[in-house]
Formats: sequence, C-alpha cells, structure tokens
Amino acid sequence: MKWFNDNVNILALIGAAVIIILTVLVAGKYIRQMKTDKSTGQLTGGNWDGIGEYSNPIPTGWGLIFLGTIIWWLWYALAGYPLWSFSQIGQWNQEEANYNKIFQSKWKNANTETLQNMGEGVFINDCAPCHGILGNGSNGRAQNFEHRFTAAQVLAVIKGGSAALGDSKANIAKGKGQLGFPLGVMPPGMASGKSAKEIADYVAGGLKGKAPAGFATCAGCHGSNGKGNNGTAPDLASYNEKTVLHVLAHGKKGIIGRMPAFNSGRLSDIQKKAVATYVKSLMK
Ligand code: HEC
Ligand code: HEC
Repeated sequence: MKWFNDNVNILALIGAAVIIILTVLVAGKYIRQMKTDKSTGQLTGGNWDGIGEYSNPIPTGWGLIFLGTIIWWLWYALAGYPLWSFSQIGQWNQEEANYNKIFQSKWKNANTETLQNMGEGVFINDCAPCHGILGNGSNGRAQNFEHRFTAAQVLAVIKGGSAALGDSKANIAKGKGQLGFPLGVMPPGMASGKSAKEIADYVAGGLKGKAPAGFATCAGCHGSNGKGNNGTAPDLASYNEKTVLHVLAHGKKGIIGRMPAFNSGRLSDIQKKAVATYVKSLMK
C-alpha cells in the first residue's frame, strides 16, 4: 500500500504541514515584534546583569488555559483515567472472567472421572509442590493424602484436641473449629496411655478391622464408623469434599505446618471440586 492511498496518512501530513506553517507565521510575527516593540508596565525593581522583570498581570488567555489544565488534570486523574480509559489489565480480567464462565458452565455436571482427571492437573500444578507429586506428603513436609494421618498425628490430636490441630486459643474459646464442622472444636485429653495408642493405630490404619474399645469415646462425635456422624465432625475414614473445600478456602495451620488458602480466584469452584475428588481418590 502506497502512503498516499491511506486517508489517515494524508490527514496526518496535512496536519503536520498546517502546524509548521502556523508555527513559522506566529514565530515570525513575534520575532518581528521583538525587534521594534518597547515594553511598558511596572518593573519589579530587580536587576540581573541588566535584565529587569515587569510585574505585568498574567495574560487572561494564559491564566484561563492554566486553570483549565488544573481542572482537566483533576477530572483525568480522579475520573477519566480510572473510569473510562482503556486498560490492558482490565481487558485481561474481563476476558478471563468470560472464559471462566464458559468453563464453569461447560463442566457444571462433570462426572467423577472427569473431575478426577481435571483434579489431577490442578493438583500437579498447585498442590504437588508441597504435598508431593504422588500426594504422599513429600516426606512429611505436608499432609500425606495416601494415608491421611500418621499414628503420631492422631495421638497428638487425641492429647491436644483442636489446639493440636492448630486452632487458635481465641477460636477454641469461642468453640470454633478450624475445619468448620458443626461440632466446632475437639476437646483435649480424649484418651490416654495404651488406649490412646490403640486408637491412634486404628485411625492411622484407615479404620480397618475391629475398633478398639476406647474408640467408643471418639464415636460419640465422629460416628461409630468414624465417618463423621453425617457431617457434624470430620470423617476419619476418608477425605470428604467438605474438609478439602474448607481447607482450600481458609488454609490450615497444624501439626505439620501452614497450608496457604486458595481463595481469591486462584481456583474456580469446579477446579476446587475436581481437586477434592482427586485428593479423595489418593486414599489407600
Ligand atoms: C466432642 C466431640 C469429639 C470427640 C469426642 C472426638 N472428636 Fe475428634 N474432632 C472433633 C471435631 C469437631 C474436630 C474438628 C476440629 C476442628 O475443626 O478444628 C475433630 C478433629 C479430629 C481429627 C482431625 C481431623 C482432620 O481432618 O484433620 C482427628 C484425627 C480426630 N478428631 C480424632 C479423634 C479421635 C481419635 C477421638 C477419640 C479419642 C476423637 N477425635 C474424639 C470432635 C470430636
Ligand atoms: C505451601 C505448601 C502447600 C501447598 C501448595 C498446598 N498445601 Fe495442603 N497442606 C500443607 C500443609 C503443611 C498441611 C498440613 C497442615 C497441618 O499441619 O495441619 C496441609 C494440609 C492440607 C489438608 C488438610 C489435611 C487434613 O487432613 O487436615 C488438605 C485437605 C490440603 N492440604 C489440601 C491441599 C490442596 C488440595 C492443595 C492444592 C490446591 C494444597 N493442599 C496445597 C501445605 C500445602
């Protein structure tokens, strides 16, 4: 394409020519005037190497333009730029929101297999750095999803209750459990000695076989099968979606360390559901 086939190019060139012509004419007028003009008005009295200064009033036009720029700046800084200007970040956020909407509606009724596959992707990206690529907790750096609890962890919870789970004293005083179950907190000292050890081994072993007698204490809240009494306390037999979603939303501080929260749009609802399904599938 030749430059003269483009209207915008031609307009720009005409504009440039007009600006040059106007500049030459206006500058010429003032240069001629400077040669002959004698200034009038009040001198300020200062004298710098023969150069004086007049205290003439500001030319009206100049003053108006000056005020105008201040008003324009206020408008631009407070409203024009923040509200109406094009923003690449804004465009990106909008596109992302649109795609997320499409994603959410496309997978709204995904079946367990799809969720599990999707969850594996999320897991490798967001969880594996701490929980290990196999979900086995990277040698105790984070929770082991294959076996969930070690006997030592269960023992610590039996002895310390919610405090060992990482609940703050203030929350425990309010009866608020970190994992967000209706029963709230777990009291300390639920069993001791040999009985506590038996219970811990039983829970860490995945609640298989016959429950030790002491487990009756736990059953009061966690249910006789350990599955959480219809969601009023954590399911000790397996991960349930609710626990994982709660931990993702709030993070968790506990025996091992701190798990960051995954809210503020890092994972969409479907992705969270998917990763919860995947975590459940890791249980052995
Ligand atoms: C008074 C009710 C109650 C009793 C009795 C009880 N628990 Fe709990 N337990 C809870 C609650 C509620 C939580 C969740 C606390 C929280 O959200 O911080 C919990 C949490 C746990 C956890 C941690 C779960 C997780 O996902 O991190 C373990 C392990 C546990 N209990 C084991 C036991 C064992 C073993 C016994 C019996 C010795 C027992 N509990 C007795 C109410 C109880
Ligand atoms: C920065 C490291 C880190 C990352 C990343 C991380 N976690 Fe964790 N997570 C931990 C630690 C540490 C714990 C143990 C906290 C404790 O001591 O109770 C934990 C605990 C958990 C628990 C609670 C286990 C229980 O039984 O109480 C769940 C569920 C969990 N993580 C899920 C996830 C998922 C899903 C992801 C990915 C979206 C993830 N985590 C990413 C460090 C991490």
